[in-house]
Amino acid sequence: MKQVYIFSTHPLFGGCVEALLSGDEGLRILGREKDLIKAIEQIRVLQPDVIIVDSNDFEASRALAMNCVLKEGLQPRVVGLNVRDNKFIVCKTQLGTIKELKDFLETVKSENNSDKQVSTLDGFGRTLDYLRVSVTDRCNLRCVYCMPPSGVPYKPRDAILHSEEIARMIEAAAGIGFRTIRLTGGEPLVRKNIVGLVRRLAAISGIAELTMTTNGTLLSSYANDLADAGLKRVNISLDSLRADRFRRITRQGNLESVWQGIKAAEAAGLTPLKINMVVIRRFNDDEVIDFARLTLDHPWHVRFIEVMPVAGAMDWGPNMPDIDNRLLTAAEIQNRLQELGELLPEDGPSGHGPAHYMRLPNAQGTIGFINAMSQHFCGACNRMRLTADGYLRPCLFSDQGVNCKSALADGASIGELQSLIRQAGRIKPQQRSLLNDPVNGLAMSTIGG
Ligand code: 5AD
Ligand code: SF4
Repeated sequence: MKQVYIFSTHPLFGGCVEALLSGDEGLRILGREKDLIKAIEQIRVLQPDVIIVDSNDFEASRALAMNCVLKEGLQPRVVGLNVRDNKFIVCKTQLGTIKELKDFLETVKSENNSDKQVSTLDGFGRTLDYLRVSVTDRCNLRCVYCMPPSGVPYKPRDAILHSEEIARMIEAAAGIGFRTIRLTGGEPLVRKNIVGLVRRLAAISGIAELTMTTNGTLLSSYANDLADAGLKRVNISLDSLRADRFRRITRQGNLESVWQGIKAAEAAGLTPLKINMVVIRRFNDDEVIDFARLTLDHPWHVRFIEVMPVAGAMDWGPNMPDIDNRLLTAAEIQNRLQELGELLPEDGPSGHGPAHYMRLPNAQGTIGFINAMSQHFCGACNRMRLTADGYLRPCLFSDQGVNCKSALADGASIGELQSLIRQAGRIKPQQRSLLNDPVNGLAMSTIGG
């Protein structure tokens, strides 16, 4: 489907062109406008394939074309049409009739979409191609660094996006350059019919990677079905290899269930597996060596994550490390691993994370470090988040968001959803705001980690 935008300072022109193109199933009219400034802004957001301008209004049309093509770096085909004389101009060089305009649009329609490089840039020139989608705010664990003991009040069910709404958002994102989708939660596997959702999303063209971050507790019963439905890989959160400790940190988890989940994921081919350990000083930091050793015999990517303060989960209860003394930096972790041998820098697995990777001599897997606290990787950030209740959040450290739920409920077109995604891209901050630490008052489980 090719997207068309119409610009003319005369309302009659827009009406004529719309009438001319209506009923053409290969074309979608994204909008029409008579104000030059508004048109430029809308075109920037909507990124149509073709702009039809009124060549009677030569100056305004030329200004529009120049602005969009030169300033915004967009590459729409600009067609000038003169309704009165039944003449049109393509990029100011060819003259022809309305029949030729139709032929021209036929050629545009037959162009393969994949030839066209569409991408979404934020306001600082970063390409956004990675969408983390929280499919539920519910979780079957209560990790101390994520939630208070009572959990986070769940959103009412009707506030949560339906599967078809999630699919539409991802279709829209895929059409403007998003290539990687990671399903998160809460715990994604507690969502009803998660396998059906994965199957639906895996069928969306343009998505190169569909992956999931899970706590692994339910994975043993889902791994095969998820792989069969089209999921590529899983990241599993695991913070301790000791059952008692695992239970203390998750408040209710069973380590054995996660091990079964890991085995099932490997057997189902949801690989390469990534194991994420949130490292906490004086709590599980004595296990970093054991976690690193896992990479010797398993082709896993074990990643150490610096613990972040999350508003709403600051008080971890009695006999837990002090609030000011929980962080063990990636540099410190790396230092401690020296005893296992020289760590060699590594390119790392495919994926779009902010981790940097190393490998122990002769190890099958790699070790990654996610310096969530000690270093800013904002400059290379390619991600956006969709919350379970339909807000696009361009940055984990900012509480700004764009509400898509109501647009989805109103049956918004793909073009309109794309414009919301671009709008969210434009409010993505250049770097995280230090003023906003800790993580913006929303639990990780709501935003999707
Ligand atoms: N600090 C660091 N990582 C966290 N995660 C959740 N809360 C925090 C926090 N406060 C991680 C989980 C999981 C991912 C989704 O986010 O451990 O790996
Ligand atoms: Fe659940 Fe993940 Fe939060 Fe733990 S960190 S409570 S597994 S959402």
